Amino acid sequence: MNVEERARKLRAAIEQHNRLYYVEDTPEITDAEYDALFRELQALEAEHPELRSADSPTQRVGGAPLAEFGEVRHRTPMLSISNAFEEEDVRAFDRRVCQALGTERVQYATEPKLDGLAVSLVYRDGAFAQGATRGDGTTGEDVTVNLRTVRSIPLATKAKYLEVRGEVLMYRRDFDALNKRQREAGQKEYVNPRNAAAGAVRQLDSRITASRPLRFFAYAIAAAERIDWQTQAQALERLEALGFPVCKERAVVEGAPGLLEYYRHIGGMRDELPYAIDGVVYKVNRLDWQERLGFVSRAPRFALAHKYPAEEQTTQVLGIEVQVGRTGALTPVAKLKPVFVGGVTVTNATLHNESELRRKDVRIGDTVVVRRAGDVIPEVVSVKKEARPRNAPLFHMPAKCPVCGSAVVKNEDEAVHRCSGGLYCPAQRKQALLHFASRRAMNIEGLGERLVDQLVDRGLVGNPAELYKLTAETLQSLDRMGKKSAANLLRELERSRKTSLERLIYALGIRNVGESTARDLARHFGDLEPLARAAEDEFLHVPDVGPIVARSIRQFLDEPHNRQVIDELVRRGVRWEKVSRAPRPAGQVKSFVLTGTLSGMTRDEARAAIEAKGHKVAGSVSKKTDYVVAGEDAGAKLERARALGLTVLEEKEFIEMLQNL
Ligand code: IVH
Repeated sequence: MNVEERARKLRAAIEQHNRLYYVEDTPEITDAEYDALFRELQALEAEHPELRSADSPTQRVGGAPLAEFGEVRHRTPMLSISNAFEEEDVRAFDRRVCQALGTERVQYATEPKLDGLAVSLVYRDGAFAQGATRGDGTTGEDVTVNLRTVRSIPLATKAKYLEVRGEVLMYRRDFDALNKRQREAGQKEYVNPRNAAAGAVRQLDSRITASRPLRFFAYAIAAAERIDWQTQAQALERLEALGFPVCKERAVVEGAPGLLEYYRHIGGMRDELPYAIDGVVYKVNRLDWQERLGFVSRAPRFALAHKYPAEEQTTQVLGIEVQVGRTGALTPVAKLKPVFVGGVTVTNATLHNESELRRKDVRIGDTVVVRRAGDVIPEVVSVKKEARPRNAPLFHMPAKCPVCGSAVVKNEDEAVHRCSGGLYCPAQRKQALLHFASRRAMNIEGLGERLVDQLVDRGLVGNPAELYKLTAETLQSLDRMGKKSAANLLRELERSRKTSLERLIYALGIRNVGESTARDLARHFGDLEPLARAAEDEFLHVPDVGPIVARSIRQFLDEPHNRQVIDELVRRGVRWEKVSRAPRPAGQVKSFVLTGTLSGMTRDEARAAIEAKGHKVAGSVSKKTDYVVAGEDAGAKLERARALGLTVLEEKEFIEMLQNL
């Protein structure tokens, strides 16, 4: 078999397995076997770039981030649907439809109302050409590159022109796994599958989208070159035949009784469905009737969304606990008398933060209504005040972190309380260690999540300074740590001991101090000592440091544990270059004049580069000028420099000189 044929076979096989997995839900090979096929195709395409094609499954991995999304004007508007909550609304809908059509009985196509993000997919000449979000219904965002990464969206289909509408969503089990990964990586968890899916689709970096477990379900054909089907049910069958995933739980029913029966049927199986739904959708099945019914404002008269209420239950608050997240955020959590709601037994409900808790006025002993909102984190909806035990005390956030005892702080402009323990608080340790080791901080390669988990869980490392006391022996006792990786890590740790002040400041993980603030702080203070001593106000003299940042730096440094960690880092041999702030002796300061246009940098950048080395830039040429830097189209200043016999530097010479200054 030649390579071309092999590549084609592999592509077909991979797409077939994608379909079996995502569309049919009946995978025939293991993940490892799938990965092997995928890697073989990747290798083939790498070796023979001429074999690459836009519809290859290898192109589902995403590409370089976009600066922004383009706009897409939908050829057919993306409409909304009228909502109904009560059975009576449904009966009224059916009556209106019958009356408008002058008939007694209407068949409806019924589907679950998927709780995801609506998208429109356009296929031209058999290839997926454009994907867009709904936007305002008329104009959406061009998210084609992101949607290409969604495995259940066919990259090719047998159609000359086709506009498919559907929903991008995440299965609940995939969502749970994603949140578990987020948690383990110390990243923010998502609120619910819909938010996670919507966020992933609207990601500017499509490689991130590619890493999210998104799925697509088609629910309508908005346009096609030829429509040879008569009903919505047939349209869905056609979509299925073309390779699109379509909800299996759909049906065709008759009249209001049929609609209500379907509603109850789906409601009963709601918790067993792999995806979240917030209702069911009814559509008049006959397309010619749909057309006759037309639209009212932005919603079609032929469709109705019948919503399910979020399930609520009543129970008792046994206590209020405070949990510390990885960023130090304190979350009050109500401990509940176990209650079955939305398909699961709930024992905890989030109270979000103190002001939310106050607003609802939740107290220990209260009888409360709880709800599983969007089927995820249960929350307390309201308090039955009449059932409150006498003298139930107000709940206050603790002044000390329940995990580490450090002071709890709250900035006025934030709703959350935070533990100021930072590096010291075990709840925050793993995150702090990972940040400390990260590439732009101390750049300790090999110190990943799995290792940090082990180090913290076994009590081997409590703070970043303790990383420097690790021995080969200790490291080798860990899982997945051989002699060689232990030696590598020790070498990395050794290397990282010598660093720059800005890296060190950044590595400490002070809230609101990113890389660029760390750099400015390093430049301003020159060394760690003066920075640690500085009063809050003094930080305001640093470029881009405002009151919020100044306060968080001071708070961090005022925490004795953090000071101890800094001292220990020094004790364990961490050294940094001091940043020279002392002015150069007068005689050594060179005076530059810039003229003309430089190709590699702006004037401001050139000036900053000169000043960073302690030299000066003057506006006009004089006998005292040491160098004139002449870019393209240099004019009068260059002439004057020549007349005075000054040293003129071309851009290349200037850059070389900068390095040696
Ligand atoms: S049909 C003419 N069917 O609900 C009606 N919409 O439409 C066009 N949705 O955000 C929409 N599941 O994304 C239709 N089976 C389904 C749906 C569905 C979810 C969403 C849709 C849009 C909203 C209103």
